[in-house]
Amino acid sequence: MPRSGFHQCAGSLSRGTLAYSPLTRFPYPQALAPSVLPTVSSQHRIGLAPIATPERLLLGPGPSNAHPQVLQALARMPIGHLDPLYLELMVEVQELLRYAWQTDNRLTLPMSGTGSAAMEAAIANMIEPGDRVVVAVNGYFGLRLADMAGRYGADVITIERPWGEAFSLEEIKAALEAHHPTLLAIVHAETSTGICQPLEGIGDLCRAHDALLLVDTVTSLGAVPLFLDDWKIDLAYSCSQKGLSCPPGLGPFSMGPRAEQKLASRKGKVPNWYLDVSLLNNYWGSDRVYHHTAPVNMNYGMREALRLLAEEGLEQAWGRHRSNAEQLWNGLERLGLQLLVPEPLRLPTLTTVRIPAGVDGKAFSRHLLDQFGIEVGGGLGVLAGKVWRIGLMGYNSTPANVDRLLNLLESELPAFQPTVPAAVAA
Ligand SMILES: Cc1ncc(COP(=O)(O)O)c(C=O)c1O
Repeated sequence: MPRSGFHQCAGSLSRGTLAYSPLTRFPYPQALAPSVLPTVSSQHRIGLAPIATPERLLLGPGPSNAHPQVLQALARMPIGHLDPLYLELMVEVQELLRYAWQTDNRLTLPMSGTGSAAMEAAIANMIEPGDRVVVAVNGYFGLRLADMAGRYGADVITIERPWGEAFSLEEIKAALEAHHPTLLAIVHAETSTGICQPLEGIGDLCRAHDALLLVDTVTSLGAVPLFLDDWKIDLAYSCSQKGLSCPPGLGPFSMGPRAEQKLASRKGKVPNWYLDVSLLNNYWGSDRVYHHTAPVNMNYGMREALRLLAEEGLEQAWGRHRSNAEQLWNGLERLGLQLLVPEPLRLPTLTTVRIPAGVDGKAFSRHLLDQFGIEVGGGLGVLAGKVWRIGLMGYNSTPANVDRLLNLLESELPAFQPTVPAAVAA
């Protein structure tokens, strides 16, 4: 039997039945004659069926389902990463990322890696040992930013709000006045809580206090209103697998002129070769110098995802996410479920629902996955076991998906509830 869980395909080969020629029959040059090589072990040579993935509707915190046209783009034959046609595609991807972020930033490109790679790029390029950095922490990803900044030698100061609450401009101002940081980092869309941090005004405060503003837009890009230049955001990063309807693998990144200046005036090298933006710009800018082999197919997918977003239009995409989220919120409340975040601060892409008292939240999400192929997420950090996280992101933000989930909650949840009605978990 094949060992993989992806075993729907017939015709698997099991160990010992592989129909390959013995390696000793290959025509080795004399110097590499098999007699001088160790015997090849077949211990790890497992026999597998070709991959077959299950049908899933991903309504969790990400990844979300990719758009079918993005999948078609990904499946195309790679071309060289210095092929003139690929270089054209790079320009298109950069231009459409600028549209998605509403920025003119020259240094706008997809990092090879997931959102965390783009997060690390922002930190690694900006921070020099001893720089004071204020990180606004009201959830799991603020904590990750603080951790990363510390690893690059920053003098990290965190300001904190309870998970599920946002920062006020007064709190940001007080932190800038008290700590005089070179950089303030904040998460726009905190996927661990479902809060959307209002950003208007923070950029002005940062400029008034000579601090750079770094914003995590992993769960907002393409889905929630976002204006990098108008809101005076100096650095931003995101991911491919949420609002952009791509699989995970690329981390869009953008750096504005003030951040570029800080990069140019660094005393030492960026302590991360792979993510050094000045090296990367030798490839993404006009010089076209090889840095690393670009994940060509991921960028095919990114181009298609961004093309689809531009075709729909940002206002329409934002409006679609908003109206589908409202349909979900109304439906959840009709079912008697409680939402963690109050309405004005709720993220359209990620809704946190309190697990009713007495319900085993994990068992219920497992039931949805096993019986209906639907993934919803559990809580992270202090919210572990207390909330479900429902994502409506990119291609998956549709009225039909909302209806499907609400219908299942109505029909399936009662069996998981205690027979005696209990209060909702605190
Ligand atoms: C707000 C936020 N920041 C950063 C990340 C890290 O991105 P990735 O998991 O793609 O590395 C995530 C992942 O979900 C996120 O939600």
